[in-house]
Amino acid sequence: MANAGEVAHARSLADPAGFWGEAAALVDWVTPPETVLDDSAAPLYRWYPGGQLNTCANALDRHVAAGRGDRTALIHDSAYTGEVTRLTYAELLDRVSLFAGALRRLGVERGDRVIIYLPMVPEALIAMLACARLGAVHSVVFGGFAPPELAARIDDALPKAIITASCGIEAGRVVPYKPLIDEARDLAAHKADAVIVLQRPQLTADLGEGDVEWGDALEGAGPVDPVVVDATDPLYILYTSGTTGKPKGIVRDNGGHAVAMAWSLPHVYGIGRDDVWWAASDVGWVVGHSYIAYAPLITGCTTVMYEGKPVGTPDAGAFWRVIEDHRVNALFTAPTAIRAIKKEDPRGERLADRDISSLRTLFLAGERLDPDTFAWATEILGVPVVDNWWQTETGWPIASSMRGLDPLPLKVGSPSRPVPGYDVRVLDEHGEEVAPHIEGNISIRLPLPPGTLPTLWGDDDRYLSAYLSAFPGYYATGDGGHVDDDGYLYVMGRTDDVINVAGHRLTTGSLEAAVAGHPAVAECAVIGVHDEIKGQVPRAFVVIKAGAEPDPEELQREVIERVRDTVGPVAALRDVRIVPALPKTRSGKILRRSMRAIADGREEPVPSTIEDPRVLEALAPLLRGDT
Ligand code: COA
Ligand code: AMP
Repeated sequence: MANAGEVAHARSLADPAGFWGEAAALVDWVTPPETVLDDSAAPLYRWYPGGQLNTCANALDRHVAAGRGDRTALIHDSAYTGEVTRLTYAELLDRVSLFAGALRRLGVERGDRVIIYLPMVPEALIAMLACARLGAVHSVVFGGFAPPELAARIDDALPKAIITASCGIEAGRVVPYKPLIDEARDLAAHKADAVIVLQRPQLTADLGEGDVEWGDALEGAGPVDPVVVDATDPLYILYTSGTTGKPKGIVRDNGGHAVAMAWSLPHVYGIGRDDVWWAASDVGWVVGHSYIAYAPLITGCTTVMYEGKPVGTPDAGAFWRVIEDHRVNALFTAPTAIRAIKKEDPRGERLADRDISSLRTLFLAGERLDPDTFAWATEILGVPVVDNWWQTETGWPIASSMRGLDPLPLKVGSPSRPVPGYDVRVLDEHGEEVAPHIEGNISIRLPLPPGTLPTLWGDDDRYLSAYLSAFPGYYATGDGGHVDDDGYLYVMGRTDDVINVAGHRLTTGSLEAAVAGHPAVAECAVIGVHDEIKGQVPRAFVVIKAGAEPDPEELQREVIERVRDTVGPVAALRDVRIVPALPKTRSGKILRRSMRAIADGREEPVPSTIEDPRVLEALAPLLRGDT
């Protein structure tokens, strides 16, 4: 008998309008869409034009209206403060509609942008949903980014308001957020009208002109009803690393996104409205948007939001404690988190006195799942460990075992086969499809399914040039890999200068810009090298200016500090190597691609235009991650 996931996949490609037209019934529309897919401006596609809805109403109001207001919507658990906060759907709706009222009083209306720079507190979700309720467009910025990165996002999104907190907490260390916001506002050309500050008890922030405390913003505000928006209106912008230093504003629309969220949680992840679901990510990343906030709430289940790391506070049993305490049915995290736990507790002893029998599945994504981590997690947890591959751009999985649709057997090293909606092909450099087992550029035939990016914020041209021009008719994922004889996909790594550090996506271009700014550095290249825990970490290779004689340790300290100050601590640059020369072509271009290939362990011919092959040979051990 045919496999249900395979049947769904075939149908979604043969009849996208029929398939996604039916899936649209999972969402409550104010005006149902007239058309499922508009291809009149291909290769720019729009899903559900003519449809009208409100995403927040789908996430909250409809569950309350259906009599499920007492169901727990959110469990917030902080390993740092020891606090657990539970909010039912009815309570979350009250908090969100009141905060939407506060935003409206500050002038935020449909279409206005709001930057959210918050740690993992319930207010982060409340702020996102309040924006959605107003039809405003949120742009959440991850707390590990430094003020210049924030300023770049402010100047691109041009927000009406910024929402932040007095501090975040990182491994027991209080990180003041407000000074970072102040510095970013000084750097940015655009001036937001208002800054709302959530004062956390760990640190009180000084307020300046135009700043208002969260509680004061609520004073006198009344609840607001959901604002009806077009399916094609933007719900949020999420900036991600581009190949240049300028971040790319990934746009998510309301209609396609709501359908993709409502469809993917039950079908891909096998989670229904009676489940407790935990995505151990951060709201600053796409996983946090899709699977901490929107998908579980649109589905009507319980979402767990965790402030803490998998290790350290208190120990490598932290995740198992959360699963036991909240009877979590499925956990979604990055392989790096599992590697960090494995390093601290290789025999899984922290599991011994925990009851994690509620757990049905572990989902891992964000970076390549190495066979050792897969095997270890499978053994100690005794549940299926499901690799799933996707990107900020797509917003939901491109390839995964379909846990809610007759799952196929898992294969080590593969996120299984493409998910319905995605026509994945592996192409050579001429755009020709390659045979199984041959490495190539993983690409997706257009149109992409609902919920994926329709464009980049304010920049259709960049969307076209960055994603759609390499292979006409296809979306270029930027990942390389191959398929096997059964159509299982193997994602081997990026083909561009994006690196993946502890499941966090960074571009080496922006790190290089920061390193090159050091007065003693003549030129540099930053390459991701293998790391046992984080998968990849950046390593900077610097050539010193003639005549400069810096102390290597001091130089390393200063370069690291520069990167922290301009990109942010999340860049995790700790390793700066002074080298006599960088490999170049005879015309003087640094051979970053060849350096990357060596670092990734890929066989790639060295260009015949190389100036001096010995320079590359000398660097090879350092590129492979050797210390
Ligand atoms: N605000 C401020 N600083 C932050 C931050 C935030 N929200 N998030 C991270 N940072 C800082 C950290 O404190 C750290 O600073 P340090 O260099 O002073 O120690 C730096 O950025 C790097 O953070 P991180 O990459 O998280 O490394 P870590 O060593 O603190 O922890 C792991 C390592 C593997 C435990 C951690 O990265 C992890 O749990 N990763 C899971 C990945 C994940 O959730 N990915 C999302 C996609 S699913
Ligand atoms: P992000 O946009 O931050 O989600 O990062 C997306 C990138 O992470 C992808 O383009 C891949 O390079 C990588 N990635 C995500 N999930 C996987 C996976 N399951 N296997 C291999 N690489 C992955």
